[in-house]
Amino acid sequence: MAFIIDGKKISQEIKDELKEKVNEYKAKGIQITLAVIQVGGDPASGVYVGNKKKACEYIGIRSLAYELPEETTEDELLSLIEELNDREDVNGILVQLPLPEHIKEELIIQAISPAKDVDGFHPQNVGALSIGQKGFVSCTPSGVIQLLKRSGIEIEGKECVVIGRSNIVGKPMALLLLRENGTVTVCHSRTKNLKEVAGRADILVVALGRPKFINQDYIKEGAVVIDVGIHRDENNKLCGDVDFQDAVPKVSAITPVPGGVGPMTIAMLMHNCVESVRPVD
Ligand code: GUN
Repeated sequence: MAFIIDGKKISQEIKDELKEKVNEYKAKGIQITLAVIQVGGDPASGVYVGNKKKACEYIGIRSLAYELPEETTEDELLSLIEELNDREDVNGILVQLPLPEHIKEELIIQAISPAKDVDGFHPQNVGALSIGQKGFVSCTPSGVIQLLKRSGIEIEGKECVVIGRSNIVGKPMALLLLRENGTVTVCHSRTKNLKEVAGRADILVVALGRPKFINQDYIKEGAVVIDVGIHRDENNKLCGDVDFQDAVPKVSAITPVPGGVGPMTIAMLMHNCVESVRPVD
């Protein structure tokens, strides 16, 4: 029987631990503040930003919401970031992606002070991760590591295959699994024999961006499968990159969608906000 990894429960545990830490800070007169910037009215981004604010409220982190119109210029956004970088009462800055087309994401990410980059997207933090130094780590892949660890799944020495090479998930995921002493392979759209490579994995992390693409033909008997995808299927129901019903008889453990990786991203964002109180060196 497959073990269904409960991301909702694990994320709640993490949020409760963080709430306690925040209370300890509060008792010492330390208030944590996260600035969340959204440009334009993308409905999905609106939902994500709303969930981030709710999590802040639950944990006791002050959130400052900046809802800017679609026609905001790059310069206007850059000056807001500069102002927030300079504010001593702001610990974390998050710019919700995607941004409107006329704003260069790369430029905006690089403008955020690395010490306030709670998303872990700044090249300095990405570089720190790649050479094993301290820094903020991208929330979704660090959430996957927490799911594995808190479910008692060992990473050390395991064949880990990551499908997807995005800057936000695939690449940092590979680095984190390597840091945990996994043997890591990264697959992508040009990988030949994906079934064969994925089929070697003891731990298969799927961040491919295609609904229900990975079925049991890609999975080794007894593998652990982590599904980072989130889509709406033909019946408007949420589904992942993995065909859950098809995969489940073959795996030893698997994350569902919804209720797997999704809730972990916000829990790890909250973790980074709490960490932001200490200077990242
Ligand atoms: N858009 C989708 N996921 C994320 C995320 O983790 N952080 C930000 N800033 N934007 C996103």
